[in-house]
Amino acid sequence: MRKKLLLGNWKMNKTPAEAKQFCLDAREVVSYAIAHNVDIGVAPTFVCLESVVANKPEGLIVSAQNCSEHDHGAYTGEVSIPMLKAVGVDWVIIGHSERREYNGETSKACNAKIKAMLASGVTPVYCCGESLETYEKGETKPFVAEQIRVGLEGLTPEEAKKVVIAYEPIWAIGTGKSASKEIAEDTIGFIRRTLKESFGVAAMDIRILYGGSVKPNNIAEYVSQEDIDGALVGGASLEPDSFKGLVENLVK
Ligand code: PGA
Repeated sequence: MRKKLLLGNWKMNKTPAEAKQFCLDAREVVSYAIAHNVDIGVAPTFVCLESVVANKPEGLIVSAQNCSEHDHGAYTGEVSIPMLKAVGVDWVIIGHSERREYNGETSKACNAKIKAMLASGVTPVYCCGESLETYEKGETKPFVAEQIRVGLEGLTPEEAKKVVIAYEPIWAIGTGKSASKEIAEDTIGFIRRTLKESFGVAAMDIRILYGGSVKPNNIAEYVSQEDIDGALVGGASLEPDSFKGLVENLVK
């Protein structure tokens, strides 16, 4: 049985003081989620991580939005896995489409980071998803299969089980134009079959999230699908009220 997961991706939003206020306001809803056997977390910017770790409600997962594959050294602007662990962070989102688009992150680079994370006991949330052009050409499945194959290359089935996958069609991110539950389930079911080819039965234990304009009023449709194990949510995760709405609709 795969445990449901709700992860808020704050992207480049909130100061440390605002992040602290969110933590104070989200206490009840985090306990509620945990009491209903749902894993719940947020991914703040690097500068907000310490504030969230210090003020977070018990059990809230704290994730970074990127990391370096290297432990230390001459990598200006980067943050390493040991540094994240030192401030109490042991989850990292990797390969988000915005990082692929604006920062040239490739699936191969993600693979190196994922291996470094797994070696350090950190949970990767590996993002994949196609552009509108690829979707309209009907090439979603081969495109996503390649992202999965390259990103997870060389992992053992035991390691693969520790990875969370997030399928986020780029045309649905921040656009208000979410993929229908049928489209999301079709692609996510395909991703699970792709994982099965590489990792066998371990694929049944890998959590796969849907992301892209998930809101309180549509989250239930996604998580009721057989292969969808939760959501990676941007805009609707920023305010405590809508975060609460996401949780309430996810558990009901
Ligand atoms: P959105 O973002 O929920 O604002 O569409 C999702 C994401 O990019 O993770």
